[in-house]
Amino acid sequence: MFIKELELHNFRNYTSLNLEFSPSINVIYGKNGYGKTNLLEAMFLCCIGKSFKAAKDAELVKYNEDSFRVKTRVGGTLCNSIGVFYEKNKSKYIEIDGVYIDKIRMLFGNLIGLMFSPESMRIVTDGPSYRRRLLDIALCQIKKDYYYSLMMYNRFCEEKSSLLEQGRGGDRLELEVINESIASYGAVIAVDRWNFVKQLNGLAGKYYAFMTDEEENADMKYRPDIHFFNAAINEKDAAGDNSGFDTETVKDWFLKELNDERLMRRERDLRKNLIGIHRDDIEMNLCGNNMRSFGSQGQKRSYAISITLAEMEILKQKSGRTPVLFLDDVLSELDNSRKRKILEMTGNIQTFYTCTDRDMIGAPVPGGPSVNFIDVEKIR
Ligand SMILES: Nc1ncnc2c1ncn2[C@@H]1O[C@H](COP(=O)(O)OP(=O)(O)OP(=O)(O)O)[C@@H](O)[C@H]1O
Ligand SMILES: [Mg+2]
Repeated sequence: MFIKELELHNFRNYTSLNLEFSPSINVIYGKNGYGKTNLLEAMFLCCIGKSFKAAKDAELVKYNEDSFRVKTRVGGTLCNSIGVFYEKNKSKYIEIDGVYIDKIRMLFGNLIGLMFSPESMRIVTDGPSYRRRLLDIALCQIKKDYYYSLMMYNRFCEEKSSLLEQGRGGDRLELEVINESIASYGAVIAVDRWNFVKQLNGLAGKYYAFMTDEEENADMKYRPDIHFFNAAINEKDAAGDNSGFDTETVKDWFLKELNDERLMRRERDLRKNLIGIHRDDIEMNLCGNNMRSFGSQGQKRSYAISITLAEMEILKQKSGRTPVLFLDDVLSELDNSRKRKILEMTGNIQTFYTCTDRDMIGAPVPGGPSVNFIDVEKIR
């Protein structure tokens, strides 16, 4: 799939803009602060209906304006256009082919996008919430019921938290009913995450080895907060067992932990929801050592890029269509050999690169894809 055209109105630093793209490589170049990332942010908004960096839609509205409009014309996918409109103090409005959709999950899968930005480094360098976010963004785009399960899981967790906060966790029966729903939705999410990380690990490992000329290896492992599930994953891995997990079994493990008398007492005392998939993590290792503490900046960066490329491969397999790749500032810290390898790996995918200098992309590869250059200074 690919984006043919982008139309913006009062989005970030753009008043009004209309841009056409190549279905292959697009390089958006220009000085710092000129609005390169803003363009990627606008396009990615049409993939998941949310900004990849701003917490609030209001931040996306151009200063001193009241609303923004983003519209993409797309090809090779289920629809022809996607529009996102937002007016301050009102809700967001999303349209597919000019028809309003009232549920955000109806947007997922129409335009599948993958973003690598400087923020993506946080997947490797920062806390677990960034890794859970990676899983959620990817899985929401390829599995319709994932978003629903996540939404329902959060809803029941909020209900439980509010009971505990009010000091009403004493009613065991009421908590057990909520725990049943938490375990049902949580198990679906946990099994999906486990499957996804397993695939991601295999592919990211290959990309990383390729980028480092097979000199280094990196791997990752899903670390669910459901302890029985975590132990079962370890057992399966140690036995080299490649079979899957059954959602019902994971649900039973989760429920057993949630209804454990000691945990319930602690939750009541602390007035907090203490376990669940909202505390999951992914462990990452570089040549057998913890990536976060042992990896160099360049190694972490290369692994984060490998993860993005691996995600792309999975999204492509699952959706049957090639996602659009957004690589914000990916080239700046890489040596020429790694740059060339990334270009090679993204050759037949619509890719948006941003960089400060046109030359950063390197010399054109003979017989390689043509490159569409966009000078951000000329379109501002
Ligand atoms: N809501 C907004 N209204 C108007 N301008 C905004 C808004 N939000 C951000 N900007 C402006 O957008 C610019 C930043 O854009 P962006 O992050 O896309 O730059 P960039 O070209 O990617 O820069 P760099 O090369 O440093 O990454 C800043 O000048 C900022 O002031
Ligand atoms: Mg930028």
